[in-house]
Amino acid sequence: MRIQNKIILIFSCSIAIILFCVYHYLNQNLTQRSFKRIQENLEKQLSLSRSYLNDVVKEFSSEKLDAIADKIGKDTKTRVTVIAVDGAVLGDSQLTSKEISSVENHLYRPEVQDALSEGLGQSRRFSTTIKTDMLYMAMPFGKEKTLGIIRLAIPLEKITLLSQNLKHILFISLIIAFIFAIILNVIISDFITKPIREIYLTAKAIAQGDFSRKSIVKTKDEIGDLARSINEMAEQIRLRIREIDLSRSRLEAVLLSMFEGVMVLDAEGKILLMNKTLKDFLSVPLDLQGRRPLEAIRNIEIHDIADRALQLKAGVESKEITVFLPQEKTLLIYAAPVVRDNSVDGAVLVFHDITELRRLEKVRRDFVANVSHELRTPLSSIKGYAETLLEGALDDKKNAKDFLKIIVEDSNRLTQLIEDLLSLSKIESGKIFFRKEPCSIQAIVKKLVIGFQKQVKEKKIEVKIDIPGDLPKVLADEASISQVFLNLVDNAIKYNKEGGTIIISAIKKSDFVQVDIADTGIGIPEEDVSRVFERFYRVDKARSRELGGTGLGLSIVKNIIQAHGGEVFVKSSLTQGSTFSVTLPQA
Ligand SMILES: Nc1ncnc2c1ncn2[C@@H]1O[C@H](COP(=O)(O)OP(=O)(O)OP(=O)(O)O)[C@@H](O)[C@H]1O
Ligand SMILES: [Mg+2]
Repeated sequence: MRIQNKIILIFSCSIAIILFCVYHYLNQNLTQRSFKRIQENLEKQLSLSRSYLNDVVKEFSSEKLDAIADKIGKDTKTRVTVIAVDGAVLGDSQLTSKEISSVENHLYRPEVQDALSEGLGQSRRFSTTIKTDMLYMAMPFGKEKTLGIIRLAIPLEKITLLSQNLKHILFISLIIAFIFAIILNVIISDFITKPIREIYLTAKAIAQGDFSRKSIVKTKDEIGDLARSINEMAEQIRLRIREIDLSRSRLEAVLLSMFEGVMVLDAEGKILLMNKTLKDFLSVPLDLQGRRPLEAIRNIEIHDIADRALQLKAGVESKEITVFLPQEKTLLIYAAPVVRDNSVDGAVLVFHDITELRRLEKVRRDFVANVSHELRTPLSSIKGYAETLLEGALDDKKNAKDFLKIIVEDSNRLTQLIEDLLSLSKIESGKIFFRKEPCSIQAIVKKLVIGFQKQVKEKKIEVKIDIPGDLPKVLADEASISQVFLNLVDNAIKYNKEGGTIIISAIKKSDFVQVDIADTGIGIPEEDVSRVFERFYRVDKARSRELGGTGLGLSIVKNIIQAHGGEVFVKSSLTQGSTFSVTLPQA
């Protein structure tokens, strides 16, 4: 029910009750008053009639008295009865003389009794004589002594009729007053409730998220104050929400740009938020909100650490896990509870991808093992031959020479190995200085190929050079770049088949020059392709060592090229051959 209708209803009821009371009171009052006036009138007429009788009546004669009664009755428009002291009716304005004689004795009528004893009697009752309700008033008359009683009577009908008329007028007036009051009520209640309705509409709009609506209430009362407070509140909420939105988008931006994966859980362990990095790490779909890590990610270890963090009061849990989808990844998880008011309200899990770190650690470990191994092999050979010589083989001239040759070869190998290692570590640590100047690839390659003529001939390999004459020069340190091509061409020969081919070509690619060294050799198995640039990595260790290799060549190539701002990559198919490509910036 609308408040306006309520006001109208309450107001109308109150007015109706008040008007009813007024009506009732006035009705009562008016009836009494008019009765009293008639009574007073009757009394006045009675005492006038008595005076008249006192003057006129000297003796008792029924006929004469009846005529007097008729006369007074006519003048006063009442019923007049003259009664003797003994109660006999002597005259009556409404009865004939015949009728009078048969009227019963009136001595014990209450008004007659009162008139005799108190000088004035009054009574209201039904007249059996004329069959109607009457008001009777009686007084004794006679100058010296009481000669009789005069009684005036009027029918009460008159009084009722009069009060009925009054009631009618009163009723109509009150109805008109009521209608006016209702109209006034509607206008006033509309005036009062209009601002309330306006405020209600504003509050509703706020609840629906529309903060632009303002209540236009200009009154300076409590309702006006309320409207202004609500307008102010809406503005405050709007500002607060904007602030929250802003900090949320900032947080989203931070989470989005993080390299670490982030997962936020609520107190029940359900996912509240996950950033894109984590979704990529775990290759899970978006919208995992509201689900538990176990069912959403199906990883018991993540579930465990999340559980432990939620039971933790303070501090950080950490765990390293390995996931396999889509590829193997090592993730380091830090999990901390979110504590609010001394109780755990959720947990935050941060995932670091440490796959590369772990791989590098492994490479380093392998490197140390490899270096020791590579150093030990020629050293033990040198030691072995030297001891054999000392133990007497020195005298066997022929063998001694061979042994010494092996010792020299192994020493050279050791020296080469140590030199390679040194230059590698120098390049890696950035201690080496490259004197970059424009160099011609064609010139470098030509000079290089000449140096390989002996090996090429031995293996019956055909070397083709396909470098356009207008190829731009590259910005590089000539000696280092020569070493790069030397290593690549050396491999192309070493891992080529007898009678194979090597094609050295070069093209310009945007700001770079790409040099391809393609061979028709044994090729590299797919699983090894990504690893050939690692230090000491050799596909076939025994074969490579037989060919005098240590597995450092390609890592030196990679380091030099990277230091020049270029790239090196390889495409290979097993038994078909490999193509190593190098890019270098144009001069
Ligand atoms: N052109 C190629 N064809 C096939 N396999 C190759 C080729 N080039 C390199 N490889 C593989 O990559 C490995 C690493 O090459 P890298 O040049 O680093 O070492 P290496 O040739 O064994 O020794 P080093 O170059 O130090 O004398 C080789 O052992 C070989 O197994
Ligand atoms: Mg090599």
